[in-house]
Amino acid sequence: MRMDARIMVTGGTGQIGSELTLELRKRYGNENVLALGHSRKPTGDLLENGPFEKADIRDRERLETLIEEYEIDTVYHLAAVLSGVGEKDPQFAWNLNVNGIINVLEIARKRNIKVFWPSSIAVFGNNCPQDNTPQDTALQPTTMYGVTKVAGELLCDYYHRKYGVDVRSVRYPGIVSAETMPGGGTTDYAIAIFYGAVRNNHYTCFVREDTVLPMMYMPDCINAAIDIMKAPAESINTRLGYNLNGTSFSAGDLAKLVAERSPGFRIEYKPDYRQAIADSWPNSMDDSLASKDWGWKVEWGLDRMADDMFARLRKRKADGHL
Ligand code: NAD
Ligand code: SER
Repeated sequence: MRMDARIMVTGGTGQIGSELTLELRKRYGNENVLALGHSRKPTGDLLENGPFEKADIRDRERLETLIEEYEIDTVYHLAAVLSGVGEKDPQFAWNLNVNGIINVLEIARKRNIKVFWPSSIAVFGNNCPQDNTPQDTALQPTTMYGVTKVAGELLCDYYHRKYGVDVRSVRYPGIVSAETMPGGGTTDYAIAIFYGAVRNNHYTCFVREDTVLPMMYMPDCINAAIDIMKAPAESINTRLGYNLNGTSFSAGDLAKLVAERSPGFRIEYKPDYRQAIADSWPNSMDDSLASKDWGWKVEWGLDRMADDMFARLRKRKADGHL
């Protein structure tokens, strides 16, 4: 990416967007990174050290006006509804997620804008290999969120083939982080368990103890987004999402790790509707294509991630922010 890139981050106040915006501002200059919010009002650095605007991603005209006004040449499009919330209102999930990406791609086509758009493990369903899930396999998701991610991947591929839009995508596993609360995904238990431990040394987990999913710590998530966008165009061999694996563990293994760092920690398991979603997703993914094409490499393992989560959340609690 050019050093003078002018970037918009949609979903800029969300779990990933809030941290990605700050990292992009560090790398490309505060004034060059516009955070786009919707309902959530940002606080602190997100609002104070760079531009912020509100828009509904379904309003293409407003989106294009902002892109023109801020002379945007690169969009990280993160605004979306996640799997748990999406299953409660599938029509809404389709409307927001699919109209969001198509609006971004239409403007990108007209204005020669480079796009990053995250897909997800949710593109996979029950009928593909659960371990080391291949890059190319059946995409038959069982959630509306997953359906929107498959549709989005196909749209990205289509806009690239038909119009030459430089759009790049990754299939993230569950993202774990300590700064902004997650927005209603199935993998949220891997974050909520740390909050529970730090707040009152207790957590009620909404999936079974033996549930295994791939997860990734936020610094790796951010590096992946920025690195794939920096890669030379000729090294990008798929405009569908690249599989990305982080580290895989069961909810029970995570609970043990938490208990080692928080003596007396208690956990109960009360699986709800998200259990079936988790069961339909891979245990781990083959991400060798991402490594080969643009040098993807995971930096954060489970123990290091757990230590960092505790350090950050305990500090926030001591500062009165938790
Ligand atoms: P999040 O729920 O924390 O944030 C989503 C953002 O979208 C919010 O800031 C919200 O204000 C915004 N938004 C909602 N409706 C909007 C609208 N109508 N117009 C404009 N903005 C609107 O989500 P996240 O976890 O930060 O995820 C970001 C992206 O990454 C999503 O596409 C998600 O599918 C993908 N992803 C996330 C994970 C994860 O574990 N967090 C994993 C895989 C993929
Ligand atoms: N973490 C996301 C979710 O659970 C997966 O994309 O919805």
